[in-house]
Amino acid sequence: MRYLLERYSNYRVVNLDKLTYAGNRDNIKDLARQRRHRFVKGDICNRPLVFRLASQVDAIINFAAETHVDRSIRESAPFLRTNMEGTGVLLEAARHHRHARYLQISTDEVYGSIATGRADETAPLRPSNPYAASKAGADLLALAYWATHRLPVLVSRCCNNYGPYQYPEKLIPLFITNAMMGLPLPVYGDGLHRRDWVHVLDHCRAVDLLLHHGSPGGVYNVGGGQERTNLAVAREILARVGGSSEISHVPDRPGHDRRYAIQDEAARGLGYRPALSFGEGLAATIDWYRAKRPWWSKIRKGAFRQYYRWQYDRRARRPSAGRQGAAATRGDS
Ligand code: TYD
Repeated sequence: MRYLLERYSNYRVVNLDKLTYAGNRDNIKDLARQRRHRFVKGDICNRPLVFRLASQVDAIINFAAETHVDRSIRESAPFLRTNMEGTGVLLEAARHHRHARYLQISTDEVYGSIATGRADETAPLRPSNPYAASKAGADLLALAYWATHRLPVLVSRCCNNYGPYQYPEKLIPLFITNAMMGLPLPVYGDGLHRRDWVHVLDHCRAVDLLLHHGSPGGVYNVGGGQERTNLAVAREILARVGGSSEISHVPDRPGHDRRYAIQDEAARGLGYRPALSFGEGLAATIDWYRAKRPWWSKIRKGAFRQYYRWQYDRRARRPSAGRQGAAATRGDS
């Protein structure tokens, strides 16, 4: 949203956000005087509201989602509602108002674990957790609107994002803020699970390209070219933040995909090139969290504490990855 407002001085953005636990009005304080930005607090499942707002715009980008895998394992209902039902409402509104574009922001998690090689956009969808399944369902629904109604739909499937404003339940901001607080970095299982990482600004550049140049009905993977094991990420954070925190191996996430890896030639064909290396992006992200301590301290003092206790204290009481984890701490990546 910030990216589009800065890049296109003639664009107006209506920002519909439910402000769930992961949302925060503080994140858009700086936009208060931006006349081309309109914030509306509301739910994408609210059909009358979505239809009214959709009549005022000519394209929808659907970033709205419940996204945290661990929460989806605990309780899947909000994921099915927002990610699938909400997508259905947005698609209907886009169809009704004959929008020029509908961009569904999805994830590489829909392909499931990729043992070797890389998934291209035709790879089968094999989601392993309720979050990924809800995103796969939404992708299919969006593509059905292209096949059935010729709504000009695009689907982007991006790898793991990191950067400013990310809610500190996700691996990178959780580990950065834990390291800044002197807390252990809880690595699930042996920590040799692999993810590809992209800085959020590079993802914004990809979204811009797809919105303006993608082919209707097209699916586009968006990679970072920065595959790492979780242990390697944890070590890099510890080395850059400093302090006395250590890695602690905790019991694994159920259904934990071992590796995500995608081919993104189609997006690259449109000119997409991630500009930031993982080292540069991580350094900038650590600087941001250092400068914004009041922002994340406030979050971590609120409802996040209950979540953290539920998610990690319970895990700490169960036997950890044990010898496998200890060996991984020495070896690996
Ligand atoms: P996450 O940020 O939850 O993204 P996703 O599950 O969508 O990839 O997690 C990234 C990786 O880090 C994933 O393999 C799970 C792992 N992880 C941990 O090892 N410890 C943690 O505390 C968290 C949140 C994630």
